[in-house]
Amino acid sequence: MLIQWYPGHMAKARRMLIENLKLIDVVVELVDARAPLATRNPDFDDLFTGKERVAVLNKSDLAAPEITKLWVEHYKKERIKAVEFVSTSAQKRGAAVALIEGAAAEKVKKMRDKGVSKTVRAMIVGIPNVGKSTFINRIAGENRAQTGDKPGVTKGKQWVKITPYLELMDTPGLLWPKLENETLARHLAYIGSINDETMDVETLAGNLLCDLRRLCPAALMERYKKITSETADEALLAMVAQSRGFMVRGGGYDTERAARIALDEYRGGKIARVTLETPDFLEAHNGETQ
Ligand code: G4P
Repeated sequence: MLIQWYPGHMAKARRMLIENLKLIDVVVELVDARAPLATRNPDFDDLFTGKERVAVLNKSDLAAPEITKLWVEHYKKERIKAVEFVSTSAQKRGAAVALIEGAAAEKVKKMRDKGVSKTVRAMIVGIPNVGKSTFINRIAGENRAQTGDKPGVTKGKQWVKITPYLELMDTPGLLWPKLENETLARHLAYIGSINDETMDVETLAGNLLCDLRRLCPAALMERYKKITSETADEALLAMVAQSRGFMVRGGGYDTERAARIALDEYRGGKIARVTLETPDFLEAHNGETQ
């Protein structure tokens, strides 16, 4: 994440979001399917009251498929329709379009019954790095080049026609992550949504390896052959270094290089498709997440 969230930045993002919300019918909340809780702004209930909302579990190519399905069910219980999605792939664009159009279907029908032809206007929102720009590009496709200002719309706003009755705001709404919960903040760091430079990379990677050993032990041992079920938590990083032959001059393991590699490989989905939070994380950490 390149933005440091100082109170001033948050206030500005909130102001812009609220201003844009006046123009739209459907809010599309994008979260990272590997950490749907950490990447969801807990203020959304207040922010989006009275708007139709749908959720997109993006980057589902990097998440555990069975847990993504649990999250889709969880959203359903919250009365929010959700879909898993991979913005970097050409597949299933239609499912996301249908989800957005469906959310406003009732409103559109009411207007049509009154003889008014209504176009649904949607906005993508999410914290940095969840894939908002990639999602808009994927959904908009070649239509994006044909955008133009519309009369009556705040200057500079661009709308992309997705179907005859659906338009998407070209600029996503930026939300800010909540960092109060230590576990969730750590998840944001694992997936690369908090700038690595602001933290100790070896501590971060060491924690990640401990979590991965709990979540996907076989895949971890397959990737880094020197890790065994006997390896102590504090030795995991050294074993990654040993697996790759990362040594420092004069002897010893280059654990800093190992840390960067482990983080990169996790983020690139090379270790396994791992989801860090299941819906019952909420119950287990009751009260901590707000
Ligand atoms: P943002 O607007 O919400 O800040 O996110 P953005 O679209 O810039 O995407 C952030 C990173 O996530 C990009 O990678 C993008 O390619 C990647 N990404 C987006 N959607 C998906 C997805 O569904 N699956 C996977 N695997 N990756 C996704 P990057 O490395 O930062 O940039 P680039 O190297 O792709 O240019």
